[in-house]
Amino acid sequence: MKKYFRQELYDLDAYVPGEQPDPDSKVIKLNTNENPYPPSPEIQKEIDRIVSQGLLRRYPNPVSRDLRNEIAKHHGVKETQILVTNGSDEGLAILFRAVLGKKNTVVTPYPTYSLYPVLTEIQMNGSRIKKIPLKKNLHFNFKKLAKAKGALLAFAHPNAPTGILEKKEDLVTIVNQFDGIVLCDEAYIDFAPENSSLIPEIKEFGNLIISRTFSKSYSLTGIRVGYLVGSENSISLLSKLKDSYNVGMIEEYIALAALKDQAYFLSNREKVIRSRENLKKRLKLLGFGVTQSEANFLFVRPPQNNPKELFEFLRKNNVFIRYFTDDISKNFVRISIGTEEENNFLISAISDFLKL
Ligand SMILES: Cc1ncc(COP(=O)(O)O)c(C=O)c1O
Repeated sequence: MKKYFRQELYDLDAYVPGEQPDPDSKVIKLNTNENPYPPSPEIQKEIDRIVSQGLLRRYPNPVSRDLRNEIAKHHGVKETQILVTNGSDEGLAILFRAVLGKKNTVVTPYPTYSLYPVLTEIQMNGSRIKKIPLKKNLHFNFKKLAKAKGALLAFAHPNAPTGILEKKEDLVTIVNQFDGIVLCDEAYIDFAPENSSLIPEIKEFGNLIISRTFSKSYSLTGIRVGYLVGSENSISLLSKLKDSYNVGMIEEYIALAALKDQAYFLSNREKVIRSRENLKKRLKLLGFGVTQSEANFLFVRPPQNNPKELFEFLRKNNVFIRYFTDDISKNFVRISIGTEEENNFLISAISDFLKL
């Protein structure tokens, strides 16, 4: 067959997202770290307003101005330090593209968000990822990270799939030492203790970029809105790479309504955190090894060391969780936090599995 495209494209391994069953299927979906609760009911008014006023015939504001202003206020930074993106994945894609010239190196702890290696490969310019394995206790290996050289250091805070939150001062030391851009991906930070975010450090470190998302703590995975926070200079440069109208009008105002409804956000977040702590205890009682996750998922090691079998058993019983096959993750499964009812069903299915 004639090859019409660049050779690198034929050689590329695409990102494999977690399985997405039909929205109306009866599956208990604990495989992609979505929020088990619906978003703020306030979003309905915005949808109705935009549709009833016929506003969708127009293009949206190119920088999602109203949302951007509210995000800036929320974090106490200037609006010119925010780039609103189509999911945080778009922000990450823009950043990798902006940084990676020919044969550059991306340094990451390993394992971490499995999109980073893909974003490195799809530059198709010989850039490579240098993975620094986690220590035995699944924490970052800061000694090795401090020695690593590259154009970009990317990590998730808390990390995925472990959910472990590293100490702020250790991360700040690395940001200070690293020669290139540092991406701190805070997709799950709202589930961690307050003041864990590195956003305040942007004032001091011109090489630091934070990514955030409305997908997880605001229950808005379906609309795809995230953002980058950085110095004014970095954000102005990165903005050159976005699509002209990268976020839709409905999406902008849904995210804005959800952000303004902090009371709903805080009570939802509390529920997820409470369920997480409860699920940790119940899994420990069943003999699981459970990491100290500060995210909306748990990374757990089954008592009989048979994670793949557990994953398959639960799948047959309509409970979807995640199993990764890399060297470290292959001994664990990752389970997103569900509603109390879903978690009860999960525990009873796991108990059945353990008796087999
Ligand atoms: C660490 C991390 N960053 C980013 C994302 C992507 O988020 P978004 O839905 O905003 O693209 C995910 C999604 O699972 C994630 O685990």
